[in-house]
Amino acid sequence: MNLSDFGQFLSTRRSVRRYQDREVEPELLDTILKMGEKAPSAGNVESWDIVVVRDPSVREFLADAALQQEHIAHAPVVLVVCANYVRSMARYSERGILYALEEATIVATYLMLGAQAAGLATCWTGGFDDEQVRDILKLPTHIRPVTLLTLGYGAEAAISPVRRDVQEHIHQDEW
Ligand SMILES: Cc1cc2nc3c(=O)[nH]c(=O)nc-3n(C[C@H](O)[C@H](O)[C@H](O)COP(=O)(O)O)c2cc1C
Repeated sequence: MNLSDFGQFLSTRRSVRRYQDREVEPELLDTILKMGEKAPSAGNVESWDIVVVRDPSVREFLADAALQQEHIAHAPVVLVVCANYVRSMARYSERGILYALEEATIVATYLMLGAQAAGLATCWTGGFDDEQVRDILKLPTHIRPVTLLTLGYGAEAAISPVRRDVQEHIHQDEW
């Protein structure tokens, strides 16, 4: 893949919130999950975990915990990508909190792009109540859910949002 192809690949990703009534093949899901192994990791401690949610009743509960966002209940798979504070703080103390959040974010991004390469659609979902998600999934206290990444075969042609020009974000040498 050259740079132009990569840019095109990124340009065609959209957040998709409607999904076909079609399961994601388990082997395909496993292949996508393995993309997480390829992410960089501070000290290679891999301070992240994923709860794979397929059970419709659990997805309903998660949708409720996420301000009734229906795409969570409708997507056949929800990947709850989490930061594992214990693993990173054992090595990096307070700094480990940031590293664990960064790693979970990178891993979720790899999965999101891996899913796209597999012809699947995703929606990064960050609007949820941490404590409700923690209760539903029985997460230990040192595990923080970072995103509910919905996954499935898309059923809508999502619209490209207007973006700021990248130069609005760029600062040369100093702010
Ligand atoms: C940190 C973060 C949190 C987000 N939370 C939500 C969310 O709770 N619900 C939702 O529908 N989309 C959510 N999104 C998706 C954004 O709405 C979406 O990325 C944005 O509108 C740009 O559209 P695009 O992804 O198609 O480029 C979130 C995205 C990010 C990066």
